[in-house]
Amino acid sequence: MTHEAPDMRIEALLQAMTLEEKVGQLTMVRGGAGAGGPELSPEQLDDVRAGRLGSILDIWAKDGIRRAQDVAVNESRLGIPLLVTLDVLHGYTTIFPIPLGEAAAFDPVLWEATARAAAVEAAAAHIALTYAPMLDVARDPRWGRIAESPGEDPWVAARFAEAKVRGFQHELAAPDTLAATAKHLGAYGAVTAGREYASVDISARSLHEVHLPAFAAAVAAGVAAIMPAFNDLAGVPMTANAAILQGLVRDRWGFDGVMISDFGAVAELIAHGVAADLAEAAALAMQAGVDIDMVSDVYPKGLAAAVHSGLIAEALVDAAVRRVLTLKARLGLLDDALRGSSKAPPDRRQAHRDLARDAARRAIVLLQNHGDLLPLRGEGKHLAVIGPLADAQKDMLGPWYAAGRADDTVSFLSGIRDALPGWRISHEAGCGIETADAGQFAAALQAARNADVVLLCLGEAAGMSGESASRARPDLPACQRRLAEAVFGLGKPVAVALGAGRPLTVPWLFEKADAVLATWFLGSEAGSALADVLTGAWNPGGKLPVSWPVAVGQMPIFYGQRPTGRPADPANRYTSQYLDIPVAPLFPFGHGLSYTRFLYGDLRLSAAEMSLGESVTVEVDIANDGPAQGEETAFLFIRDPLASIARPVLELKGMAKIALAPAASGTVRFALSCAEVAFPDAEGRPVLEAGIIEVLVGPSAERERMLKAVLQIAPFNEGATAADLK
Ligand code: GLC
Repeated sequence: MTHEAPDMRIEALLQAMTLEEKVGQLTMVRGGAGAGGPELSPEQLDDVRAGRLGSILDIWAKDGIRRAQDVAVNESRLGIPLLVTLDVLHGYTTIFPIPLGEAAAFDPVLWEATARAAAVEAAAAHIALTYAPMLDVARDPRWGRIAESPGEDPWVAARFAEAKVRGFQHELAAPDTLAATAKHLGAYGAVTAGREYASVDISARSLHEVHLPAFAAAVAAGVAAIMPAFNDLAGVPMTANAAILQGLVRDRWGFDGVMISDFGAVAELIAHGVAADLAEAAALAMQAGVDIDMVSDVYPKGLAAAVHSGLIAEALVDAAVRRVLTLKARLGLLDDALRGSSKAPPDRRQAHRDLARDAARRAIVLLQNHGDLLPLRGEGKHLAVIGPLADAQKDMLGPWYAAGRADDTVSFLSGIRDALPGWRISHEAGCGIETADAGQFAAALQAARNADVVLLCLGEAAGMSGESASRARPDLPACQRRLAEAVFGLGKPVAVALGAGRPLTVPWLFEKADAVLATWFLGSEAGSALADVLTGAWNPGGKLPVSWPVAVGQMPIFYGQRPTGRPADPANRYTSQYLDIPVAPLFPFGHGLSYTRFLYGDLRLSAAEMSLGESVTVEVDIANDGPAQGEETAFLFIRDPLASIARPVLELKGMAKIALAPAASGTVRFALSCAEVAFPDAEGRPVLEAGIIEVLVGPSAERERMLKAVLQIAPFNEGATAADLK
């Protein structure tokens, strides 16, 4: 290829292309003849030769990718390289905690670092684009993809978006980067009843308040691609939602990147009942701004027909091809199909393993610790490690584990044995994840009887969360409950490592366990990280990115509820609550214990009043009043108690970390601007209203533990709002 300015090359290619070749650039197939695999099939390579393919998904062998690129560049008429794509969500070969677990670290520096490491590894394997970050705010643990999400809060999801886009993309033309894809736009986390792929029917206000901010943040951070969600939004499938994809995302937000449909979603417009045939499906998706059809075959089979019949103008196809070629040029593909990745990258393996261990430790949330059972103390004691996740390796990788390998994963048992050489460590599975075995059960109880302390490793298999993994009863399988209750019945001190892709509704477990750790799916260094927490080598600082429910009847559950006209009052039956279970979660958003104690004091504002375009500084002093060094995450919330619409009882607007030695103290600072106090109107435009804003700082969304101050938003001329709040 010549080295003209990218746009000249692109215009020249466009001029030279036939309509079939243009459609080819908008066509993506899955490797391994559609089943995923090490390479493209001979028929798929023929399509590449004929210019009928522009991008590929799920090819995982480097030489299979090199072969495909060689055919694209040297055996097709125009020599345009393929866009090679894969779901690299939380690591490529080194696997980090699932996103819900990483969110528990509340650490944008960490979020960026793990994305950076994943990009370095995946780009070295000739991958150019990842389908991450997943940015769906999730408030219903029945929905299995909560595991892939940054949790329930839109502000956290926006910070997560920014950090992941920075981490994956870095300087996009550099060989060790990936184009990031913000997915799944939009409101996929609000599927009806937590049922996968179900319809979403929410208000425009909730869409703008809760489900879109993270995508706006990703666009502002320069994300290269966006994936519309499978779901319809009030009857309009997102894959054909021109009002949002074109009107809002492209026209108002200025997104000029590539939109890639979800898997088969263009063809699903027929099942949605909005397209009569392939040509109509192609036209709807193209008019909505979907550039690449992921494996549904609609564009290759229906797009040319839609152009010839006048259903869509070829100019729309040209615009889509231009965006795809521009992305390939930005990635450096038009200069080198392998983006320089054919040269051996520096060996970062140990650094990435160390990062995986640090990320996993920070993801662990200490939910309860009665009698300070943890950290484990003393020498030469007997710890019985029991449960189906005790020696699990593959399950530690969670859903979407890319090129991660089970045999390369540190199990809980292995990590604990390495960390406690002076202890006797016995191990019994006791049962399977969902299957019982009487012999195993008896052996586990015997091991527990003989032990000083028991660690129960319970939870889900990796495949019980992630895509197509909704659970109407998101609790522990019966065999695990039987095992746990039998062990609790022995009267031994018991800690539980609860591994899952979601909060599990197991109130009975919390009533009986001494200590419980939420371990999500921690990735390649799961066992090392858990051992660091159990021994106190790492003082856990993780906090819940989702409210932890008592029962499925509470779902969706989240702290940012509107007050209603009858806020819950246990003393008054005629208020917003249930007869049979509490209205509060078992553990609130932001909950997480430590091996030490942090005291909050003296909330200060830099000003009592803020005018349009200004910001204030919020300061709080925090002291470590306990026995151990630790790191605390403090949260800044606001409440707008009187506005033109009912505002949520709390809105998160900041987080800050502070590491303190015992008896030390320090100050955390937050900046709070008018833009952050504003709220979206039903069209998503920011509205700021004069009046009182409550400013609250605390360790979680538990109102009783917050410090509060009052800030006045000064009156201003209404017309200035939108311009000043960009
Ligand atoms: C899947 C998922 C999406 C993923 C894509 C490619 O169905 O919905 O998150 O990126 O297909 O694997």
